[in-house]
Amino acid sequence: MADAVFAWVAADDPCMAAVHELRHEALFAPFGIARDDRWDDKGEDRRHVVAAIDGAIVGYASLILPGDGTGHVRQVSVRPSLQRSGIGGALMREVEAEARRLGLELLWLNARHTAESFYHRLGYRTVSGRFPSGRTGIPHVRMELPLVG
Ligand SMILES: CC(C)(COP(=O)(O)OP(=O)(O)OC[C@H]1O[C@@H](n2cnc3c(N)ncnc32)[C@H](O)[C@@H]1OP(=O)(O)O)[C@@H](O)C(=O)NCCC(=O)NCCS
Repeated sequence: MADAVFAWVAADDPCMAAVHELRHEALFAPFGIARDDRWDDKGEDRRHVVAAIDGAIVGYASLILPGDGTGHVRQVSVRPSLQRSGIGGALMREVEAEARRLGLELLWLNARHTAESFYHRLGYRTVSGRFPSGRTGIPHVRMELPLVG
């Protein structure tokens, strides 16, 4: 993997402007979807982890804490030119480590079907059939990673 560094940042951190750019570039631009930066990033229940190389944001994931002992992972994204170089996997391991620090029992996410095998490699199991979700409407599956037991 390229020499990425990982950090948990606040929703008002200046680097979140680059996160907006990255989320659009990685998640929506490939589908021709217009940029829309209206994300509900603020709030005590939201955590943000970034991957950076030489100060540039190249990866991002959010961890939402609904308060029921679980963590909801969203918007996992890696700069397209750097995908498949290990950054996404390392980001997800940061998320898992943080969830364990917080004492969560379960991580879950709605995965694009195209990323299902990426999460499988990280230990997540598919617990639903396919359903359309989010701004793209492409098929997703719910996946879970138990953290205890
Ligand atoms: C999915 C994503 C976050 C993975 O991050 P990454 O840095 O590319 O992944 P890593 O390099 O850590 O791991 C890649 C491994 O996962 C597997 N994989 C399966 N599906 C994959 C996919 N759609 N994209 C990337 N890797 C995938 C591959 O086996 C790959 O291993 P290989 O390179 O030996 O073939 C990233 O590719 C991305 O941002 N994709 C576009 C946005 C997206 O789909 N996000 C997920 C929304 S649920």
